[in-house]
Amino acid sequence: MTKGFDTVWQNAINGIGAMPPMGTCGDCSNDDIKAAIEHMIEGI
Ligand code: HEM
Repeated sequence: MTKGFDTVWQNAINGIGAMPPMGTCGDCSNDDIKAAIEHMIEGI
């Protein structure tokens, strides 16, 4: 069971565990974070 893209995206925006909110990117939009995650999972 996977938690789904939107949950992972929200976790990257809000932070989870040692993952900092927005990956510490102060001038990223939510859509920038989405694009980064899409890049990270490309091809899997
Ligand atoms: C824009 C840059 C970044 C993006 C897009 C990103 C994205 C993500 C995503 C999608 C996850 C998985 C969330 C989940 O399990 O639902 C994650 C986990 C994590 N990230 Fe990042 N990340 C970024 C930068 C960083 C940086 C700079 C750090 C460390 C300083 C970091 C540390 C972590 C850690 C430790 C986790 C595991 C969290 C846990 O499950 O406890 N990330 N990240």
